[in-house]
Amino acid sequence: MREYTDANNKAAASKNRRAKLTVRERLQDLVLSTDQALEIKNKLNHEIERGLGKDTHDTSSVKCFITYVQDLPNSKERGKFLALDLGGTNFRVLLITLAEGAHFHMDSKIYAVPKDIMTGPGTGLFDHIADCLADFMKEYDVYKEKLPLGFTFSFPCVQEGLTKARLSTWTKGFNCEGVENNDVVKLLKEAIARRGDIAITVCAVLNDTTGTLMSSAWVKPNCRVGVIVGTGSNACYVEKLENVQLWDGPTEGVPDQVIINTEWGAFGDNDVLENIRTEYDRTIDRESINPGKQLFEKMISGMYMGELVRLVLVKLIREGLIFGGKSSDLIQEKGRFYTKYVSEIESDKQGEYHSCLQVLEELGLGGVATETDMADVRTVCELVSRRAAHLTSAGVACLLDRMGEKDVTVAVDGSVYRFHPHFHHLMMDKISELIDPSIKFDLMLSEDGSGRGAALVAAVACRDR
Ligand code: BGC
Repeated sequence: MREYTDANNKAAASKNRRAKLTVRERLQDLVLSTDQALEIKNKLNHEIERGLGKDTHDTSSVKCFITYVQDLPNSKERGKFLALDLGGTNFRVLLITLAEGAHFHMDSKIYAVPKDIMTGPGTGLFDHIADCLADFMKEYDVYKEKLPLGFTFSFPCVQEGLTKARLSTWTKGFNCEGVENNDVVKLLKEAIARRGDIAITVCAVLNDTTGTLMSSAWVKPNCRVGVIVGTGSNACYVEKLENVQLWDGPTEGVPDQVIINTEWGAFGDNDVLENIRTEYDRTIDRESINPGKQLFEKMISGMYMGELVRLVLVKLIREGLIFGGKSSDLIQEKGRFYTKYVSEIESDKQGEYHSCLQVLEELGLGGVATETDMADVRTVCELVSRRAAHLTSAGVACLLDRMGEKDVTVAVDGSVYRFHPHFHHLMMDKISELIDPSIKFDLMLSEDGSGRGAALVAAVACRDR
C-alpha cells in the first residue's frame, strides 16, 4: 500500500471531505443528459451529411465510406467460402458453407497477432495472415482448392470497388508501416504469392459492421444497420444512392441503395465533441498511439473502457474520496483495469460485491475496500459504461431517423455489447427516448458477422456475377 503524500492532493482530499461530495456527485461530467444526447445525435447527422457530400467529405470527421455492397442477402446464397477476419483482438480464418433454408456450417480457428507484428512492417503482418491461412487450409483439407474468399478488414478504408480497399488510417493499437494508403487486397495477394503454395479468389473486402449487417439480414430481411461495440466502435447503414454524392458506380440496373461504413469512431476528431469530453477522455487520448484520432470510439469501446474506469478511480483515490485515500501499485499501472472487470462488477446483484471484491483483490486493494468503497467502484463502472451505451444509442438513433424506415432491425456485435450485462437494455431504452416515436426498431445480436457476413458478401458478389 502506498499513501499519497503530495500536499496538493491532500488539500484536495480534505476539501472534498469537508464538502461531503459523494462519488456520483463528483463525477457528474460523466453523465450525459437527454439534451446532450439529442445534440450529439444532431451533430452526428450533420457530420454524416458532410461525409457523404462531395465538397465536404474531406473535412468531415465521419467519413461515410462507400462499401459497394448494394444487395442484401435473399437466403438463396449457397456455397463454400473462406473468410479472413482481422481487426479486433484476434485474427481468425473461417470456412463457411452456406446451405438451403438459411442453414450454414462454419469452422474457424483463432490465431494470435503478436504485438510486434501489430506494430511492425506491413509485409510482416500480411505474411503472418498468409501463413495462418495456409495452416488453416491444410488443417481443413481445402489446400488444393481455389475457394472464393471474403476479407473482413475492420479499419477505415477508402473502397474503390468490392475488392479494392485503401487503408486510410490504422486504429485500435495497430500501426504497421507501409499499409496506409495502400490496397489491402493487393497486399494480401502479394503475401500469398510470396508463399506460392495456396490459391484463393478474393471476392470481397469488407468492414466488420458490413459483415454484421449482412449476417443478420440473412435471417431478418428488415435489417438496415450494423453496429460494433467491441475493441473499437463503428456503424454502417443502408443509404439511398441519391444521397451519396461520391457514388461513382453505375446508377442504372442496380439497387438504388448502398451500405455506407460511417466510421463514426472518428466522430469528434474535428472538435465537435469537446463540450462532453472529460479530463479522463483527454488523458486516454494523449496516452494512446493515435492522439487526436477516434475520439468518439475512445469514449465507447472496449479498448478504452477499463482504462477510463481506472483513471477515474485513481483520481478519486488522490482526492481521498475512495479507499480512504489508499492506493496500490497495480491500480496505478496503465491498462491494468481490464474492460472485462466492468462487466464482472456490474454483474454482481445489487448490494452484493462478490466480483467487485475479487477484482479489488487482484488489484491489491482488497484489504482496504469497505462496502461503501465497493459501491463506489460499481458506480464508477456504471457511469462509464452507461455513457458508452448512451453515446452509441445517440448514434443509432441518428441512423434510424436518417433512414426513416418504419420497422428496422439493428444488428449489433462486439465484446462490450455481448458481455456487458446491461448494455443491450440501456441501448433499447435510450434509443426509444431519442428516435422519432413512429419508428419501430429492435437490436439483434448478430451471430458471427465477420465470418458469416464475409461469406455472404462474397456469395452475393458471386451470385451477381
Ligand atoms: C475501425 C472500424 C471498425 C471498428 C470496430 C474501428 O476502430 O476504424 O473500421 O469497424 O473499429 O471493429
